[in-house]
Amino acid sequence: MNILGIDVGASGIKGALVSLQKGQLSGERYRVPTPQPSTPHAMAQAFAEIVNFFEYSGPVGCGFPAIVKNGVAHSAANIDKSWIGVNIQDVFSEACGCPVFATNDADAAGMAEMRFGAGKGENGLVIMITIGTGLGSALFYKGEMIPNTEMGHLIWKNGNIAEHYCSSGARSRLKISRKEWARRFNEYLQHLELLFSPDLFILGGGESKLFEQFKEHLQTRARITPARMLNNAGIIGAASYASESR
Ligand code: BGC
Repeated sequence: MNILGIDVGASGIKGALVSLQKGQLSGERYRVPTPQPSTPHAMAQAFAEIVNFFEYSGPVGCGFPAIVKNGVAHSAANIDKSWIGVNIQDVFSEACGCPVFATNDADAAGMAEMRFGAGKGENGLVIMITIGTGLGSALFYKGEMIPNTEMGHLIWKNGNIAEHYCSSGARSRLKISRKEWARRFNEYLQHLELLFSPDLFILGGGESKLFEQFKEHLQTRARITPARMLNNAGIIGAASYASESR
């Protein structure tokens, strides 16, 4: 069965039908730019546009870039602040006419990688970091996920937060070279290693496509690997979340 997965990001909203038997997209992706300002109403219209594009009806999985508990957004780092306290599932379901199941975007991506990708069969401690406008995180121990870990919001140098130091959003905003960015990101990974002693880091998000270009700058005791599904992990994980939650 194909389930629609939608990965809501700060700059783009991407959807595709997903085959959960194969753990992969079963067709093309459709992307719309995230409306600015990214209010619940505007985002719901964009979300519905994706559902309509696929002429889909059925459960829809949604990865959302915030702390998500019981379908409600509890933070809004890179989206409009009016999301805080809003039930994502209710707003999106009403706009598209299908039941929507929402979870944190990095948790969705992490679940997909653990089930079908780079984390499959990993039984130790695994941290997935998604590198995009922000830094998302997913934490697994013996295959079990601890949700909403928000490692991108670790308090970092000068009272800043880590995602303002080494996300790809920070790289463009601060106009730093890829090499300088990789040096910063390596510092961040080494700090996570000090705190959690993972066995494996999986790197996802838009930046993971460039892994070959920056891997030489990364050095941890833990293994480091790009997400096997690259930036599609969020879509696949969202579909998988809907399938389990419906
Ligand atoms: C948000 C997280 C999200 C990450 C990636 C962060 O700013 O706080 O919830 O997972 O960005 O989108």
